[in-house]
Amino acid sequence: MEIAVFSAKPYDREYLDAANAAHTHRLKYYEVPLDDETVSLAAAHGAVCIFVNDHANAAVLEALAKGGTKLVALRCTGFNNVDLNAARALGIKVVRVVDYSPNSVAEHAVALLMAINRKIHRAYNRTRDFNFSLDGLMGFDLCGKTVAVIGTGKIGRVFAKIMLGFGCDVIGYDKFPSPEFEAMGARYAEPGEIGSSADIISLHCPLTPDTYHIIDAHTLSRAKRGALLINTSRGGLIDTEAVIDALRSGQLGGLAIDVYEQEAGLFFRDLSGTIITDDVLQRLVTFPNVILTGHQAFLTREAVTTICETTLQSVTEFESGAPLTNEIDAG
Ligand code: NAI
Repeated sequence: MEIAVFSAKPYDREYLDAANAAHTHRLKYYEVPLDDETVSLAAAHGAVCIFVNDHANAAVLEALAKGGTKLVALRCTGFNNVDLNAARALGIKVVRVVDYSPNSVAEHAVALLMAINRKIHRAYNRTRDFNFSLDGLMGFDLCGKTVAVIGTGKIGRVFAKIMLGFGCDVIGYDKFPSPEFEAMGARYAEPGEIGSSADIISLHCPLTPDTYHIIDAHTLSRAKRGALLINTSRGGLIDTEAVIDALRSGQLGGLAIDVYEQEAGLFFRDLSGTIITDDVLQRLVTFPNVILTGHQAFLTREAVTTICETTLQSVTEFESGAPLTNEIDAG
């Protein structure tokens, strides 16, 4: 099948080409993201393959349908950037990669937590300048601390398991609680208890209208003073301005994020030679107790291999008329 791959990076080409050895799809790579301006590139491609910051809104989907596209294959888990109702109305199927190494994201969340707590980012910079002073590098033991996991799905549960291994008390919140979470020795708690007792809050729920700005001025005011906030899920879960206020007042002790609400147009690109006009991001990076990675939590060999294999398998299923294992149901 002809597949237009948007937002294609060198590693996408490498791993998709390798995965395509088991298929016979014809992949056309475009570095640009899918949006209103680039959608014409997909004309005559039966499938488009997109990533987290491509825009598959109603207008784009309509243009895709006109051009003959019948399948949108997301090479990621989250699908908040696709208008599922519009896709269904246009007869476009949407698939995603439901399950690929949740370890990749959970382990990155742990890496961020360890770095922000033990000030690894600051130590790295200092020691490269042969500055071996320890002033300002004090962290705390994770053992015995309370970690709140918001969203106890696949990634949240792996994160919880690792935190239990550190000797933490793990509490969770989920709209749909999972017995597996409790079976591993964690427990569910009400938002009030999470606020008052969590030393660390890690976000692992999807971005939906329900979870948009789940961390805002109100939730932050109810958090334990000095708590650390980790977000490897979606930027829109956090009201960044409110977080900046909480960092400034000391209410929030540190922030480590792999995602940012306004990341589209910024992340996945080298902007080191340009002036960043996003003042919120500018302010964020000036805090010594903020670490930002550019949506790289998924980026392990194991995860990307599975992502590419699953994506092309979904296209093959579609082409052969087989049931779509990874179809997203518009509900
Ligand atoms: P999952 O579907 O297994 O788990 C999500 C959990 O969130 C479910 O248990 C669900 O019931 C819960 N949830 C839904 N609405 C909720 C609400 N209103 N309040 C609390 N919990 C709620 O998904 P998985 O695989 O664990 O992924 C989680 C998220 O991680 C994805 O939605 C995606 O946004 C993000 N992600 C980030 C990546 C990165 O590279 N930074 C890569 C992959 C995923």
